[in-house]
Amino acid sequence: MGNDYLDMPVDPTSRDQLAAEGLRLELVDISDKQAFAAWSRAESRGFHSPVQTEAAIEQRHSYFDDRRITGVYDDSVPVPQEPVATTMVWPADLTVPGRRTVQSWAISDVTVAPTHRRRGVARALLEAELRTAQAHGAPIATLTVSESTIYGHFGFGPAALARDLTIDTRRAKWTGPRPAGRVHFVTADQLLEPGLALVERVRLTTPGQIAYDGILWDRQLGLMVDDEVAKKQRFVRYDDESGRMQGFASYTLNENPADFTQHRLDLLHLVTATDDAYAALWRFVLEMDLVSEVKAHLRPVDEPVRWMVSDFRAVKVAELDHLWIRILDVPAALEARTYATPGRLVLSVSDPFGAADGSWVLDVDDTGTPTVTPTDDPADVSLTVEELAAIYLGGASPVMLHAAGRVRGDAARLEAMFRSPVAPFLSHWF
Ligand SMILES: CC(C)(COP(=O)(O)OP(=O)(O)OC[C@H]1O[C@@H](n2cnc3c(N)ncnc32)[C@H](O)[C@@H]1OP(=O)(O)O)[C@@H](O)C(=O)NCCC(=O)NCCS
Repeated sequence: MGNDYLDMPVDPTSRDQLAAEGLRLELVDISDKQAFAAWSRAESRGFHSPVQTEAAIEQRHSYFDDRRITGVYDDSVPVPQEPVATTMVWPADLTVPGRRTVQSWAISDVTVAPTHRRRGVARALLEAELRTAQAHGAPIATLTVSESTIYGHFGFGPAALARDLTIDTRRAKWTGPRPAGRVHFVTADQLLEPGLALVERVRLTTPGQIAYDGILWDRQLGLMVDDEVAKKQRFVRYDDESGRMQGFASYTLNENPADFTQHRLDLLHLVTATDDAYAALWRFVLEMDLVSEVKAHLRPVDEPVRWMVSDFRAVKVAELDHLWIRILDVPAALEARTYATPGRLVLSVSDPFGAADGSWVLDVDDTGTPTVTPTDDPADVSLTVEELAAIYLGGASPVMLHAAGRVRGDAARLEAMFRSPVAPFLSHWF
């Protein structure tokens, strides 16, 4: 995709709907620093974040050349330059099964001011984005969410889950491999390029990953000026025996003032390209002196660490939905990935918004390569666009969804074709 999405006009349907309510749907001109600052303040207010400093706004502004930024304005409010609703989008590569990517319309910063909530403003904004994504040819829209109750209303489904782990390090003695490479402390600056190169090296191995770019990567490294957590952030990398970096981790230590032997370590990010790097960095974290608890945030559901410590129950797991996707073009989305088994399946998809409504034959050859064509044949499987999103990356089990009454028909065949050997996972919020 080129940068032409930046100049596409706002969606006329939503613009007219909002105009009928006395509201203006507009693109924010990034070259107008005042307009951007007002938008940025409204966005942080919408997420209940602290009031942004000038320096924070200035830094944010420096990243957003490739972002399409939208605001909804109400000229009758006392601060009319600050939008009452915000969103921001950009085209981002989404990894799909088969070590491939598909273009996605990444949607971020969706807020509606508490003064304007529950009167259809978010619906108008989101539907505008979905139609613009369609016009631009993006087969899928993606987002990460504050609440799991919101985006089903717009045809999104949870495509990749994530786990938070809480590990009692006094019980979880290391039983895994002890690789011969070395763990080194590094600075955030020392990870800036090599860390991103490593992330890129492994991005295609996990469905659900979305490419990092400027602000996403810098935020991960704690480089945002208003990031309070970053003051405590430490970084380590693992080098294999030949001295090549094969992984890195970042964490914070949080003191228990009543007992210095009971610090908590928060593992913020751990990315590895080899099993050795994985084992060495986890061991480093779990054997840290003065730490009694490790909280690991946003980890994959197929995380192996439980099998590398002495006590399974020392690792408590909390699961959450993380990456939500919305399929806008069924043939393009289904043809973007490969499949686990060959076969022919007629899928009937319902979508009240219309984009994904219809029936298609999914024909998969012996190499796992699909062709998808419209059909009038009777359906083998019927599902809504939400369930299609949930199974698309190989995340939710169609058999389980069938048992939940959410997929009808031959769920076993659907499962055999759609499953992924690597659980879908996204390692950041956007
Ligand atoms: C979530 C938010 C954007 C919704 O905005 P809104 O303008 O009030 O939403 P709308 O009035 O357009 O509602 C659209 C639909 O979503 C539903 N909905 C909206 N917010 C919801 C919520 N928090 N939980 C469940 N459903 C919700 C509405 O019931 C409505 O359903 P329907 O059209 O199918 O009947 C707004 O409350 C907000 O800014 N919240 C704080 C920031 C946030 O969480 N943003 C989301 C970031 S991922």
